[in-house]
Amino acid sequence: MAKQPRSELRRDGDRTEQVSEKIRKRLFIKTYGCQMNVYDSARMTDVLAPLGYQVVDSPRGADMVILNTCHIREKAAEKVFSELGRLRAFKQERRDQGGDMLLAVAGCVAQAEGEEILRRAPQVDIVFGPQTYHRLPEMVARAARAADGRGVLDIDFPVDSKFDHLPEEAAAPGPAAFVSVQEGCDKFCSFCVVPYTRGAEYSRPAAAVIAEARRLVAAGVREITLLGQNVNAYHGEAPGGTPNGTGGGTWGLGRLIRALAEIDGLERLRYTTSHPRDMDDELIAAHGEEEKLMPYLHLPVQSGSDRILAAMNRRHTAADYLRIVERLRQARPDLALSSDFIVGFPGESDRDFADTLKLIQDVGFAQAYSFKYSPRPGTPAAVEDSQLAEPVKAERLAGLQQLLGAQALAFNAACVGRDLPVLLERPGRKAGQLVGRSPFMQSVHVGVPEVAMARLAGRILPVRIDSAHPNSLAGSLLVDDAPQAAAGGRTMARITA
Ligand code: 5AD
Ligand code: SF4
Repeated sequence: MAKQPRSELRRDGDRTEQVSEKIRKRLFIKTYGCQMNVYDSARMTDVLAPLGYQVVDSPRGADMVILNTCHIREKAAEKVFSELGRLRAFKQERRDQGGDMLLAVAGCVAQAEGEEILRRAPQVDIVFGPQTYHRLPEMVARAARAADGRGVLDIDFPVDSKFDHLPEEAAAPGPAAFVSVQEGCDKFCSFCVVPYTRGAEYSRPAAAVIAEARRLVAAGVREITLLGQNVNAYHGEAPGGTPNGTGGGTWGLGRLIRALAEIDGLERLRYTTSHPRDMDDELIAAHGEEEKLMPYLHLPVQSGSDRILAAMNRRHTAADYLRIVERLRQARPDLALSSDFIVGFPGESDRDFADTLKLIQDVGFAQAYSFKYSPRPGTPAAVEDSQLAEPVKAERLAGLQQLLGAQALAFNAACVGRDLPVLLERPGRKAGQLVGRSPFMQSVHVGVPEVAMARLAGRILPVRIDSAHPNSLAGSLLVDDAPQAAAGGRTMARITA
């Protein structure tokens, strides 16, 4: 790679920016898909930092661009190839200026397409999967040396986990952070690429997770979301390797949550994404007993029809799901539920679809994600004969989203007039606005005086909810002006300055 000037003026569109001497190499990462990819992108930044790479917010003029891709739905690979076409022009521009731009494709499309990416997009220098990014420095060195212009490909599933090789997180976290605790999936739902792109289930040792959480809290983090493709299948080695009597030396997610909740300064815990099969007693009990575990759970059901659930290889029925929800609500009555739904799975009849609508009505979701079934190459459902026509899928999706949208709005509307503790995370789009999350995971927009923005960001403060929208709430900040008020409770006053 060409040597970089130590300091220069760079023009990005109409923006001219002084690039500081410290930014020796500019790294642009575009992240698609799930929160796991967001986490992975942050860790790639950590891995590349010792090589002098710092993150910039535009691919133009960058020394390295990584597309961290998602393969879960739709024409993921095609989207990546068209993005690579656009980036080719920027790479050429860099070369014309006497520099170069390393172009890398990461994530699940890289894992699934591998060599094909290098063949179809020869401008790509590096292709690597979700399990090998700890080797990025080596890949960068190999790509820089590659005189023949051939790209570097590393899509192994290494025997030793990348977590054993990753550096401690370098990037300054915000008040809410992710910690990856589990990866991969052995469930093989018949529609899903994850078991093929992310590999077999792996759980990080509990001690490593706790140490990472402690470091984050020491750096100011108040809320941690534990991540995993199948996070409640977590079965990490117990600290000190001592058997805990129930798991033969491993901890389940419920036990891990209890240990994390003991960290002083950590106020909130969440986890995502879970599978109904792995909602065990300890985890359900944690929802009732552990105050720091927020009353929100994303628990994908996918369908309300037992016939379709069996064809999906979900290994649970609609009644199983309803029973789990009932137990969770017994433990934590105010639990807000979210889910994923797929409509138009091969062979789905009107009746199957009606069963899904019925389940939604029975549960009542606070929020949900819904998708048209999209055949993924290499998955069993993709080769079923009974694929549904596009207009049928579209019509069912519209019907499903209408119902889910109405439930979400009703849930949000029921919050109007309540005082909710909100973790104020970042400035909103409008001036004088902070955006945060309620315990139920709703986005809350809060008007605050400009002068107080910096002081208030990162704190959990009571907010009076004034209005509800389909995907968010708006409210005003309250100060607790009489914490000792008598039995009648606390009185709140709106902050005005
Ligand atoms: N088609 C449509 N939706 C899918 N999902 C996963 N695979 C597919 C597919 N082939 C959805 C599931 C999953 C969410 C992350 O994406 O609902 O829970
Ligand atoms: Fe995919 Fe099913 Fe595994 Fe979830 S549980 S990641 S949907 S295979």
